[in-house]
Amino acid sequence: MQRHTTHTRRRSSRGLSLIAALGMVAALAAGVGIVGQVVVAGSGATRQTRSNWDGIYTEAQARRGQPFYEASCAECHGSDLAGQEMAPGLLGGDFTWNWNGLTLGDLFERIRVSMPQADPNSVSRAEKADILAYLLQANDFPAGDAELADRTSALRGISFLAEKP
Ligand code: HEC
Repeated sequence: MQRHTTHTRRRSSRGLSLIAALGMVAALAAGVGIVGQVVVAGSGATRQTRSNWDGIYTEAQARRGQPFYEASCAECHGSDLAGQEMAPGLLGGDFTWNWNGLTLGDLFERIRVSMPQADPNSVSRAEKADILAYLLQANDFPAGDAELADRTSALRGISFLAEKP
């Protein structure tokens, strides 16, 4: 009898913890919903929600970037941006999905700090912003009215998305 009671209690407390767990899942789901709403609500003029799909460089800037790319990057990444040997391609899905969900600031910093490999300081910040504009154009992201800044903090406010949102 004593054993039976204990058994019943255990079962009911297990039942309770299952209900508690379900409640937590529901609360989490609700939390995610709220976060999602805040992001959607912010997607107007705020810089945080701009992306590479919003015309964030100009045609002229990309044209300026091409010769810089040829001079300092093409030797390894190819004039067609397809990459070769150790150097990855900077074109198409392999490239864009690599950076998906990060920011243009992250991509800019990667180039600023480590490219060209032998001497990253041989290409200026402004030239690297132009090269980034060229890379965006080569990947068919639309040009717009404003040039891409060469400040990492500003570029961190622009998301990099492989697919058009
Ligand atoms: C001497 C060869 C060489 C040169 C020149 C060079 N790169 Fe690279 N780059 C590489 C190699 C190798 C890697 C991959 C390994 C690494 O990160 O070091 C790479 C990686 C990259 C990546 C990361 C790609 C990814 O999807 O993760 C980017 C972006 C990049 N390079 C851009 C540039 C740009 C822009 C220039 C010119 C300013 C440049 N590179 C010049 C060899 C080079």
